[in-house]
Amino acid sequence: MIITVDGPAAAGKGTLSQKLADKYGLAYFDTGMVYRAVGLRMLLNNCDLNNVEVAEKEAENLTFVSMIELSKNKDFRSARGGEAASIVSSYSGVRARLLDMQKNFAKNPTFADGTPAKGVIYDGRDTGTVICPNAKIKFFITASPEVRAKRRYDEFIAKGMDAQYDVVLSDVKKRDERDANRKDAPMKPADDAIILDTSDMGIDDVFNEAVKVIEGKI
Ligand code: DC
Repeated sequence: MIITVDGPAAAGKGTLSQKLADKYGLAYFDTGMVYRAVGLRMLLNNCDLNNVEVAEKEAENLTFVSMIELSKNKDFRSARGGEAASIVSSYSGVRARLLDMQKNFAKNPTFADGTPAKGVIYDGRDTGTVICPNAKIKFFITASPEVRAKRRYDEFIAKGMDAQYDVVLSDVKKRDERDANRKDAPMKPADDAIILDTSDMGIDDVFNEAVKVIEGKI
């Protein structure tokens, strides 16, 4: 079984995806990681994030294993890391080079410890449209920019990171704008996606709603 969870930054895709993966015993692929890994590699090497050729080279060389290694770095999930990911993910050449790694995961899905899984939850804004257009179940999770900024801000604070709500909100809006104007990964739901606006919903409500949809389809 393949389920995709698309939507804008900080809409709650990750939390929902992980809970669904646990419930249905599926592997979880957070596709934002591929862009975070390329962006972080460039930050660590002091590369100019506007250098498309270097970004493409980093994408070309990225392996699943090196991505997991990079994900242990403290900047992987930081605001700086997110900004770098957002910039490199806007390059078509970078996206093209990271496509196979993402698609191939569904052919042989595994859990973090390497054991095989019977399916995948893909989390990421183009997973239902580009990575897995044939997925059986597709969600598009969204929420207002203010609600998403508050969630991201709370996440940073809970992790003991420095954050200011106004800065996080302006980052979310900036990212939305950059992500919306992307030709090869438009920020829009797949035609057959179920749209969930989570602005006024807690995570349990979102989860229960998603489970209802899945149970209706399997
Ligand atoms: O979900 P995230 O915050 O980890 O994503 C980081 C950036 O990566 C985000 O700004 C957009 C990009 N991204 C993308 O373009 N396509 C995906 N499937 C996942 C993430």
